[in-house]
Amino acid sequence: MPLSAPTREALAIHGGTPVRKTLLPYGRQCIEEEDIQAVVETLRSDWLTTGPKIPEFEEAFAAWVGAQYAVSFSSGTAALHGAAFAAGIRSGDEAITTPLTFAATANCVLYQNATPVFADVDRDTLNLDPERISAKISPGTKALLPVDYAGHPADLGAMLEIADRHGLVVIEDACHALGAEYKRKRVGSIANMTVFSFHPVKHLTTGEGGMVTTDNAEYADALRKFRNHGISSGARDRQQAGQWHYEMVLLGYNYRLTDIACALGLSQLKKLESNLKRRREIAARYTSAFREIPGIGVPGGREEALPAWHLYPIRLDLPKLTAGRAEIFRALRAENIGVNVHYIPVHLHPYYRERFGYRGGEFPIAEGAYESLISLPMFHGMRDGDVGDVIRAVDLVIGCYRK
Ligand SMILES: Cc1ncc(COP(=O)(O)O)c(C=O)c1O
Repeated sequence: MPLSAPTREALAIHGGTPVRKTLLPYGRQCIEEEDIQAVVETLRSDWLTTGPKIPEFEEAFAAWVGAQYAVSFSSGTAALHGAAFAAGIRSGDEAITTPLTFAATANCVLYQNATPVFADVDRDTLNLDPERISAKISPGTKALLPVDYAGHPADLGAMLEIADRHGLVVIEDACHALGAEYKRKRVGSIANMTVFSFHPVKHLTTGEGGMVTTDNAEYADALRKFRNHGISSGARDRQQAGQWHYEMVLLGYNYRLTDIACALGLSQLKKLESNLKRRREIAARYTSAFREIPGIGVPGGREEALPAWHLYPIRLDLPKLTAGRAEIFRALRAENIGVNVHYIPVHLHPYYRERFGYRGGEFPIAEGAYESLISLPMFHGMRDGDVGDVIRAVDLVIGCYRK
């Protein structure tokens, strides 16, 4: 049974009163007093960058996900670039990834003068479909770059198996998936390298920031050098050893995360379990409400996966509706629900069209999903009343546009 009463209120887009007085964003950081204190303490310390908070955060993070090593970066994008470098992706190589992601996933391959090759996604999870990978493998393929879309882990077992058969590296873009589990193992402890982002809408924030986790000591060493100009030792190590000598052994970048950011990361890490619990509660409430609303579909999941719920993307059942995604998006915004869309498929961006000749139609599942996706607000600071507002607004708007 639909949730809405038979007599429909006018939508805000048609002059009615919005469900909320103020805009509920689709994502938002949660900064509390202890986070502020942690940052202030570091601001008063001797080290603002390359100091003790970096290994402290990295070690705590590695332990939390269950990896041997964690190497911090100044953003998730920089971390992806580091992982592409450490995997040995170089000029002329290829890496296979999903078109339904943020551009940074594919861009990191371009940064290494290599070519991102897209393969279409699975209809349910919208993750890279392992069945479509084989046809894309060439002698130049170096890596697979699956994304855990919306926080649902990619089919990592299948990815690792394909990689094993073809001698490839699996770099998992888990920027949505901190805290997700695949076959009861935490993401970050499964792929050859796993990349995280600490952007404010993520599960844990450092403002900007990223991390690569791995069990491979050589990758960890390459990642550390790459983020620090290709230099073989850190400034603090040199200071402690009382010596000035260092060597630049490869071409790296300044992709370092600061101690200020790591202090915030450490403080946020303490709350990660409760943040995840809250996101899972919100997702469960959404799913049970939206299953009752004809005209929309809820995110698909796999039994072996425990998602982290970075996003909650609903899918419009467009043949059952009288309006397209753009109108429904505007109607939800008018109700003060901060909806978003994830993602414009990467190959459809003008840069990719012009450089690689994509015209649309190459990846029908990803492109079709894109036309129907709307991300609803999802962040751990949402109150029960906020969740209720989203459900009411979706029910009202979809009810109004249902055939
Ligand atoms: C899937 C995915 N990959 C990579 C990134 C890049 O992360 P950052 O914004 O920390 O550079 C993002 C950021 O939102 C993302 O969603």
